[in-house]
Amino acid sequence: MSETKTTSTIHEVKNHVGQSVTIGCWLNNKRKSGKIQFLQLRDGTGFIQAVVVKSEVPEEVWESATKLTQESSMYITGSVREEPRSKSGFELTVEHVEIIQITQDYPITPKEHGVDFLMDHRHLWLRAPRQRAVLVIRAEIIRAIQQFFDDRGFQLVDPPILTPSSCEGTTNLFHTKYFDEDAYLTQSGQLYMEAAAMALGKVYSFGPTFRAEKSKTRRHLIEFWMIEPEMAFVDHEESLRVQEQFISHVVQTVLNKCRAELETLGRDISKLEKIQAPFPRITYDEAVEFLQAAGHEFPWGEDFGAPHETAIAEKYEKPVFITHYPTGIKAFYMKPDPNRPEVVLCADMIAPEGYGEIIGGSQRIDDPQLMEERFKEHELSSEAYQWYMDLRKYGTVPHSGFGLGLERTVAWICGLEHVRETIPFPRLLYRLYP
Ligand code: 4AD
Repeated sequence: MSETKTTSTIHEVKNHVGQSVTIGCWLNNKRKSGKIQFLQLRDGTGFIQAVVVKSEVPEEVWESATKLTQESSMYITGSVREEPRSKSGFELTVEHVEIIQITQDYPITPKEHGVDFLMDHRHLWLRAPRQRAVLVIRAEIIRAIQQFFDDRGFQLVDPPILTPSSCEGTTNLFHTKYFDEDAYLTQSGQLYMEAAAMALGKVYSFGPTFRAEKSKTRRHLIEFWMIEPEMAFVDHEESLRVQEQFISHVVQTVLNKCRAELETLGRDISKLEKIQAPFPRITYDEAVEFLQAAGHEFPWGEDFGAPHETAIAEKYEKPVFITHYPTGIKAFYMKPDPNRPEVVLCADMIAPEGYGEIIGGSQRIDDPQLMEERFKEHELSSEAYQWYMDLRKYGTVPHSGFGLGLERTVAWICGLEHVRETIPFPRLLYRLYP
């Protein structure tokens, strides 16, 4: 006998008004008022209220409904009604309940729990309406990202996860053994994406990256997902235009497709509606001047910390690009400004409302000689990067790219306090479970 008894999802009940449907679902919550029981049901696609009226159902249906506890699983059959007063717009009048399991002692109750408790029960916490909304928005953001690049002639390319050398400095590498050799979990696919851009023109990758950073902040994950586009024959200026179009597209898509989820999260939608290209740009020099005038003790040549980024971002309603950072604090591969080699052709995009840097990008060094010099300055073995040098040796071209941190973007669009809720199973400084 088939186990597939479901004839509609909660999301699809709108197509079944006046009909009887069977839905596989869980009990989220329950309320009783005399001879009526109100069941709050969820099936992953949405939430709906089902009403059991004692005088209208056989005794065993009333009894089954009475037994249901939080997170009990069932097939429920009922007729679909439009109900303007309910959040979903529909309600189910229950005709039959087939219990799959009565759940005992579900650990997450409607009362307040501490974050550590919820994180220990992350595998169950995902069922909560807010957590579901975040994951639905995350999935929509991923779709919007892929659509943006696919529609513009970019090819999706997958860089390796296990790498023999570093991309973003050697201090936060995850070390592992690769048989007899040393290997590291990737910090960024960029160097490989540069090779792919020389083969395919415009490319992007989407994959997990790892940083053994001892940072316990609301913006840092140990394992996070990055989108890394790389474009041949594209300079710094053109790359910034792609970035602002890209972020506008992602935010507007979420506004179009995920209204209900944004409402569940209590997100201020008017703030997101303002996210339309072009975005403001300031140079690192201007940012330093602003910070100093605002009373921060900040010497030229240092990198901004979270409070500095927040102070700068507060001046704007849209994301802001900070461009032309000092060469000394940026990665070895960034191209110096030909008019002013002490700064590089790079930009960080800082999200509004204190969410910090969501994109880091730059034009890359294309001159083989300068690249060799940089390897020496950064004490990187030119042997390990031989293949990377080849890209400058055999038909070098100007090229640029950037990396978007998915979780920080999700945190900003959802309006979440902490990046830990943006990924199903966060890897944090002191958390590897579940
Ligand atoms: O600025 P980052 O380090 O840039 C790169 O890795 C470049 N190779 C990308 C490129 O040009 N292809 O990181 C890019 C983005 C940051 O802006 C941030 O959004 C995110 O990755 N990020 C993190 N997100 C969560 N937790 C962390 N520990 C992160 N570190 C970086």
